[in-house]
This record gives sequence, C-alpha cells and structure tokens, in this order.
Amino acid sequence: MADTIDNSPEDYNKSKGGTTRRGFLSQLGVAGAGLTLAPLLAGATEATRETEAVAAAPAEITTVGLTINGKKQILNLDSRVTLLDALREKLALPGTKKGCDHGQCGACTVLVDGRRINSCLTLVGMCDGAEVTTIEGLANGDQLHPMQEAFLKHDGLQCGYCTPGQICSAVGLVKEGHAKTDADIKELMSGNICRCGAYQNIVAAIKEVQNA
Ligand code: FES
Ligand code: FES
Repeated sequence: MADTIDNSPEDYNKSKGGTTRRGFLSQLGVAGAGLTLAPLLAGATEATRETEAVAAAPAEITTVGLTINGKKQILNLDSRVTLLDALREKLALPGTKKGCDHGQCGACTVLVDGRRINSCLTLVGMCDGAEVTTIEGLANGDQLHPMQEAFLKHDGLQCGYCTPGQICSAVGLVKEGHAKTDADIKELMSGNICRCGAYQNIVAAIKEVQNA
C-alpha cells in the first residue's frame, strides 16, 4: 500500500527542524503569555480578593432622606448601594436603565438637584437631602415633558433602552445652557451611548426643545 505523502509547508518545516512553525509559535505563545500575564493575573487576583472582602464585609446601614420625583422617601440601606440599584430594586422605578454599570454608557442618567449624573456611579448615601428626578418623574400626569414629546416627534428612539438616560441627560443639557451648535450638543451628549444609532434624531429633538 502506498504511503500518504503530505507536502504541506508545515510538514516540510517539521522534517527539517523537528517541530512545526505553528507548533513553535504556539509554544512560544503559551510561554510568552505565561510570562506576560503572570503579573496581570496576580493583580486581578488581588483585586478580586479586595472586591470579595468588601462584599463579605458586614453591611453598614445608612439612613438617607431624599425626594424622588416629588415624593419624600426615607431609605435604610446598605451604604454600598448605588442610587441606580436603590431606584430599580428598592423603589420599583425601573425606567432608569442599567447598561454598563461602570459609568460608560449613560443609560442610568438621572437628575440630582437638576444636574445630570450617572446613578450607577453614585452611592445613595451621597444623595441625602437631594431631589432626584428619573424618567418617571418628568411628565406632568398625562402631559409628557417637552423633551419626551420631541423625542417621539423626531424618532429619537428605536429599541428605547438608552432613551430614559438620553432624555434625562438632554433635559440637564438644555438647563446648563452651554450648547450653542449641533457640535456642542453632540459633545455634551457624548456620555450617552445609543446602540441603535438614533443620534441625529436625538440632536434634532434637543434642538427643538432648546429653541422653543
Ligand atoms: S449604567 Fe451607568 S453609565 Fe452605564
Ligand atoms: S434607541 Fe436603542 S440603544 Fe438607543
């Protein structure tokens, strides 16, 4: 029976050097990755230990008084709870969305004393005495807020996941009064990411409210 001969370059290299180029590179890759990743993994392990230690620490209950959408609330919460989690989990206000939970997408934007903030980066304990407005608090009964009307009119939402944060951010932006041009609006809204790419329509909606 005839032997099967494979003339692939790998076999050629192997026959000359005893190992394939791909094999050599993968060995190097594994060894190199080991050398390169070792300090990173050690750091990650350390960070994980610290996170676990914080999570395992006994809860420190803090009492916070704040006004949410015009209603006074007294909350007794673990001091590590974020405003976002307090709104969604404790106060049944799920309009504010959790996107990244790391301050990078703006989905969780609410207004605290009229200023827009990322509620995922804000501990509820930092809001003692504050007035918080979420998307649920913008409308006046059945009467939508002008920014909500404008988003609808200009088709500023598709899936709508980013929309509560976009609208709260837009309300804050108009109040700040710094945006004079489309470029200003884009820059000042750049902390609010829209996966659906409704940006042009969002800018149009904001301009309409600004110029009203
Ligand atoms: S959830 Fe807060 S910025 Fe993304
Ligand atoms: S409308 Fe879908 S993420 Fe913005």
